[in-house]
Amino acid sequence: MHEQAVAFHNATKYYARSGTEPSDDRIGIGDPADDTPAIWQKDWSIKPLLAKVYTALPPVELPRALPDTGVPALAAIAATGTATGTPDKALLGRLGLLSNGLLDRTLTTPDGRTQHYRTAGGTGALYHLELYFVCGDLADLPAGVYHYSAIDHTLRRVRAGDFRAALAAATGQEPSVAAAPVVLAVTSTFWRNSWRYRERAYRHTFWDTGTSLSHVLAVAASARVAATLVLGFADAPVNALLDVEGAREATVALVALGRSAAEPPPAPPVERLDLPTRPLSSAEVTWHALTAMHRATCLPTGADAARWRSRRWQRTPPDPTGPLTALQPLAAARLDDRPPEQLIFRRRSTRRYDTDVEIPFDAFSTLLDRSTRGVASDVLVPGAPLTDLYLIVNGVEGLAPGVYLHHPRLGAVELLREGSFRAQARRIAADQSYPGDAHVNLYYLAHLPSILDRYGDRGYRLAQLEGALHAGKLHLGTHALGLGAVGSTAYDDEVIEFFSPHAAGKDYGFVTVFGKRRSGDRATSRTTRGR
Ligand SMILES: Cc1cc2nc3c(=O)[nH]c(=O)nc-3n(C[C@H](O)[C@H](O)[C@H](O)COP(=O)(O)O)c2cc1C
Repeated sequence: MHEQAVAFHNATKYYARSGTEPSDDRIGIGDPADDTPAIWQKDWSIKPLLAKVYTALPPVELPRALPDTGVPALAAIAATGTATGTPDKALLGRLGLLSNGLLDRTLTTPDGRTQHYRTAGGTGALYHLELYFVCGDLADLPAGVYHYSAIDHTLRRVRAGDFRAALAAATGQEPSVAAAPVVLAVTSTFWRNSWRYRERAYRHTFWDTGTSLSHVLAVAASARVAATLVLGFADAPVNALLDVEGAREATVALVALGRSAAEPPPAPPVERLDLPTRPLSSAEVTWHALTAMHRATCLPTGADAARWRSRRWQRTPPDPTGPLTALQPLAAARLDDRPPEQLIFRRRSTRRYDTDVEIPFDAFSTLLDRSTRGVASDVLVPGAPLTDLYLIVNGVEGLAPGVYLHHPRLGAVELLREGSFRAQARRIAADQSYPGDAHVNLYYLAHLPSILDRYGDRGYRLAQLEGALHAGKLHLGTHALGLGAVGSTAYDDEVIEFFSPHAAGKDYGFVTVFGKRRSGDRATSRTTRGR
């Protein structure tokens, strides 16, 4: 069953190549017998542009001011979607800016280009996501399909008119989409990431989407606008609506924003536009396994999307068998009161940790508790995650160093193995040093066979996305507690071996680490960062 997803997963596993020093070159991909280096990035002359630029559409200006919404970031990340606010143009601007917009911070790539960091992190700083908004008439914006242009923080209207009914049909009338004044659509242009990461870019698509969406959901919650993540949609009609062709650039997630009582009017016909955009590179490499995997995860019609969604799985988590430690999250009144809008501009990846101190148990507890409550979604169920969260604890006050499993429903962590595992933390995270220094490593592991049995090959998207979404929330939360975090990559099978016997049969999904920054830490700015 679902051989395609399993075969793709195996073909994109990372492992340590023998006879190499720790470096990008040490990482192999796929079958070790083939000895294929994981990092491609061979031809700098075809390094793709990192943003989509429509060359013939006039800009629609967006405000840059960020309101003080009064919603603390740690409350916003824990919200699961219920609110009554209405989206407006300023909110669309904030969602674009704070999840995919440019920071002033720049880096210089080895071929001499200057590149901006973005508000959300991303694998290798190779930002391959684009945002579109499908809107009815808003108080200050006429109905249309808009692209968020990251390079100048403006919107470009790709289509004029109210196309929401077409989107609702593509989701099989998913209730949140059918009632939304605005739907955000995220696309990935795979080549922008696969130039470095080959086929593994398909995993990164959902890791990076989850990371960016954690910001979208927090900013919507901060604006008190309902947000529902929708992953069940017929791919071809949604791509046609956005005028993206579906193989190089494809829609990977929708977020319904706000709720209105009025039904959308019938949509105008969706005609092909082929609007001119700036070329990304003079030549491209097609990674066929990636393209085939994406095709295997697609749904043909709205009726298929509705059927897929009806398989929504209230998964029963594993029962604890070892000693439990109850989490002690900070009381709401003691939370830092800065809203996510303020923290996002301060966010960055932290790779230098203070190994001389431990982090407080209440901060650790708050982050686990608030980042794992889930999201309002057509298929993901708040409080019943598809992935299990394994921890390597290196430095938390009152908690013995060791390996733990998080039990979100019990508000507790279970000790699986006591001991200091800093060296193993470095090793399994692809021989990088910072996971050994960080106070906590979080591994989101999925039992792929049962997810694929339930959701078919499209379940692969869920297995990759969920951990990234939770980790993105956690990353924002660390900045509200004076801590820092960074995503990572890992040697797939070594991860499972390390967490076994408990994790036997599961698959590596995602890893992030967090802790207290070493004083004097500065943002690191090498493109080779971010495997
Ligand atoms: C899913 C994900 C995986 C990442 N993996 C690594 C990694 O393996 N090693 C690393 O040094 N940084 C990793 N990063 C951090 C990125 O390199 C970083 O987000 C990017 O360079 C942008 O920098 P910033 O987060 O400071 O804005 C990862 C980030 C994400 C979102």
